[in-house]
Amino acid sequence: MAATPRRMHLVGYLIAGPTWHHHGSWRQDASDAVDALDPARYEHLAKVMEAAKFDGLFFVDTLMLTEFYQGSHAEVVRNGGQIYMLEPMQLLAAMARVTSRIGLSATMSTAFAHPFQIARAFATLDHISKGRAAWNIVTSTTTREAQNFGLASLPSPTERYDHADEVVEACCRLWECWEADAIVYDRERGIYADPAKVHRADYEGRWVRTRGPLPTPRSPQGRPVFMQAGSSDRGRDFAARWAEVVFTLQHSKQDMQRFCADMKSRVAAAGRRPEQCAVLPAIDVILGETQEIARERADYIASLVNPEFGIAEISNALGVDLPPDAFDRPVDELSLKEGARGMLDVILQASKPGTPLTIREAARRYGNTRMNPQIVGTPKMVADYMQDLFESGCCDGFVLCPAVSPEGYVQFCRSVVPELQRRGIFRKDYAGRTFRENLAN
Ligand SMILES: Cc1cc2nc3c(=O)[nH]c(=O)nc-3n(C[C@H](O)[C@H](O)[C@H](O)COP(=O)(O)O)c2cc1C
Repeated sequence: MAATPRRMHLVGYLIAGPTWHHHGSWRQDASDAVDALDPARYEHLAKVMEAAKFDGLFFVDTLMLTEFYQGSHAEVVRNGGQIYMLEPMQLLAAMARVTSRIGLSATMSTAFAHPFQIARAFATLDHISKGRAAWNIVTSTTTREAQNFGLASLPSPTERYDHADEVVEACCRLWECWEADAIVYDRERGIYADPAKVHRADYEGRWVRTRGPLPTPRSPQGRPVFMQAGSSDRGRDFAARWAEVVFTLQHSKQDMQRFCADMKSRVAAAGRRPEQCAVLPAIDVILGETQEIARERADYIASLVNPEFGIAEISNALGVDLPPDAFDRPVDELSLKEGARGMLDVILQASKPGTPLTIREAARRYGNTRMNPQIVGTPKMVADYMQDLFESGCCDGFVLCPAVSPEGYVQFCRSVVPELQRRGIFRKDYAGRTFRENLAN
C-alpha cells in the first residue's frame, strides 16, 4: 500500500484589533481594520480560510494595553499597534456558526483564569463548533497583566510553567468528568443522564485545586487541541509535554531547522511521537503577479510604518523602556526584562555576524514585519519557498500572518493554496470533522 504523502498544515493568525504584526497595514485603503470591532470581519476571514481548507485559525491575545515605552500606552494607541480589543472566545463562537470544518483557537492565560472556567469555556466552544476548539496555552509574561488582575507581579517564569502544568492537568481531569455515553436521554424511564457516568475531578496540586464535576458534558474532541508558543528551555519542555501545535517565530531556514529538531527531540523525550506535535513557524506573505509588483506593494506598505513606533514596540515586547541614546547601539545589547523569550530570540536572530544590526535598524524591521520572515513574490515563488522549508526539516507547516487583511488571506488562498495542492503537499479537502482529526491527516 502506498504511504500517505506528508502534507503541510496551515493556520491563520488573527488579532481582534487593528494590527496583526505590520504596523502600517491598517493605514491602507484596502485594510479591513476599520471593522476591527465587527464580528463580521472575523467571520469573513474564517470562511475564506475554510474555503481554502486551512487546518485552523487562531487569535493571539494579551491581557493589557502595552505601555513599557515611555511608561505610557500613548504610542501603541496613537499608532494603532497590537491592541487586543475583543475577547477571542466570544468571537470564535460567532465564527463557529458560519463555518463547519476549520479549527478555532483562542489564547487563554493559565496565570489568571481558574481551570474550572477554562475547562468550561473550551468545552462549550468545542460543543458549539462540533469538535473544532483549540487552546493556545500561555503563561503571561508581564507585571502589567498581573496588575490588571489585582496582583502585584507574576511568579518567576519557571514557576509560571510549573503552575501551568497544574492548570492543564486540572482541566484535563475536568474534561473527563462526563463519560462519553453519560447522556442517555431516556424519555420513557425519565433518565436524562446516568449519574454513575459523571465523576468528580478531585484535583489537588501545589497551587491548583478543583472538585468538579464540570457541568458541561464531554465535548466532541474530549479536550481542545493544545497549542503553545514557549521558547525558553522550560517553555519548550512544557510544549513537548502538551502541545499538538507549536507556533514559533524563527528568522532563517537554519533557525527554523534548529528549533524544529530541538522541539521534535523534546517531544520524543516526553514519550510522544514527534508527528503528534506540529511545528509551525509564522510567515508573512506579500504577493504580486510579478516579483516587481509584489516588491512595490511591500515597499508601499513599509512606507506606512512610523519608524519610531518600532522602537516603542520592541520596548513593549521586551518590557524595557529604551531611551534615545540606546537607539544606535548594537541589538545584541538588548535583554529581556518582561515578556516572551521567543521575541528576544527572534530579534537577536536578525543580527548575524558580519551583518550586525543597531536597535534602530531592528526596530524598523520590527515595525514592518514584527520579525516574521517576509516572502515577497509571485504565488509560485512563495510556494517554492514554503515547499523548500517544509521538505528540509524546518517545519510541519506554517502560521500565515499576512501584512494586510483581508487582501493577504484572500490572495494567498486564491493563488498559493492551489499551487501547493497541485504539488500534492496540501490537502484538497478536509479528511476529518474535528480539528484534531484534520491535524492528523
Ligand atoms: C510567536 C509567539 C507568539 C506568542 N503569542 C502570545 C500571545 O498571544 N499571548 C501571550 O500571552 N503570550 C504569547 N506568547 C508567549 C508564550 O506563549 C509564552 O507564554 C511565553 O513565551 C513565555 O514563555 P517563554 O519564555 O518560554 O517564551 C507568544 C510567544 C511567541 C514566541
